[in-house]
Amino acid sequence: MDLRNLPIGVFDSGVGGLTVAREIFRNLPNEKIIYYGDTARVPYGNKSRETIIRYSRQITQFLLSKNVKAIVIACNTATSLAIDAVKEMTDLPVIGVIEPGARAAVSATASGRIGIIGTSATVTSGLYEKCIRDLLPDARVFSKACPLFVHLVEEGMIDDSVTVEMIHRYLDDMIESDRIDTLILGCTHYPLLRSVIAREIGGTYADYPVSDLDADVDGDRNESRDADADGDGSRDPNGGGKAAAGTGAGKIQLVNPAYTTAMELARLLAERGMATDIPAAPSDHQFYSSDSPDSFRSFASRILGLQIDKVSLKILD
Ligand code: DGL
Repeated sequence: MDLRNLPIGVFDSGVGGLTVAREIFRNLPNEKIIYYGDTARVPYGNKSRETIIRYSRQITQFLLSKNVKAIVIACNTATSLAIDAVKEMTDLPVIGVIEPGARAAVSATASGRIGIIGTSATVTSGLYEKCIRDLLPDARVFSKACPLFVHLVEEGMIDDSVTVEMIHRYLDDMIESDRIDTLILGCTHYPLLRSVIAREIGGTYADYPVSDLDADVDGDRNESRDADADGDGSRDPNGGGKAAAGTGAGKIQLVNPAYTTAMELARLLAERGMATDIPAAPSDHQFYSSDSPDSFRSFASRILGLQIDKVSLKILD
């Protein structure tokens, strides 16, 4: 069998990692994925290192049994605590979201003052900070756990007054006292809040235009209009969203590790001669969840912007 035509295993604690799957679909349209969302055991963000490593190992074992050619840990929390444990299990390429996110932040920052937001486990692990300092030893790094964002996104409360209130409670200090110029959205769910965060804190997109699918988990397609500010039907550089239009000068650069992870995957597959040139059909992708396939399917269809026909229940113990 030609190794290049094998799928890529992607996993997350739940549905949030679909933001990474989405970037893989957009930027590596030939690649097939097998996605595992551990929806029965989400959130990982408040669990112990031991538990997160155990869950990540179980999922990796499952993906390896499906004959994947690479593993993408789409979850920031699982990457923070379990990437070394996963790498020990296989010689295949293993990519997490933290290093690509840190690299993007280091190239985006002018002042070296970088903010990181994520789950409690991600922030406590200090891995983003370490990766940033490896690249930019003089960086000033400010971290903040924003646990409620995950729940707000899962409730579809994207542009909601409660969400706006929480954005200010979590981020105002970083903006005003810490004077960061770059902010890593270090949790799978946060890219879905990106245009609201950008509007509220005066942000722009460091790495990628807001897409026609961003933040549309409430299904109202508002982001689609925002993304295409000039109405030409294309994605607008630098967002085109409410606060993100313009050059972005003086604004906080928002880094989406989901995008930079897909770019890193593309680079690695090309470097190792593992990229396929046969286009993937939507039905080539496989989805597994450890709880209700139906709710996974409807969330996935909205985030990915394609009809997911089949999600299989797979419980790992
Ligand atoms: N996927 C997790 C992350 O990126 C967020 C949800 C959770 O806490 O499991 O950190």
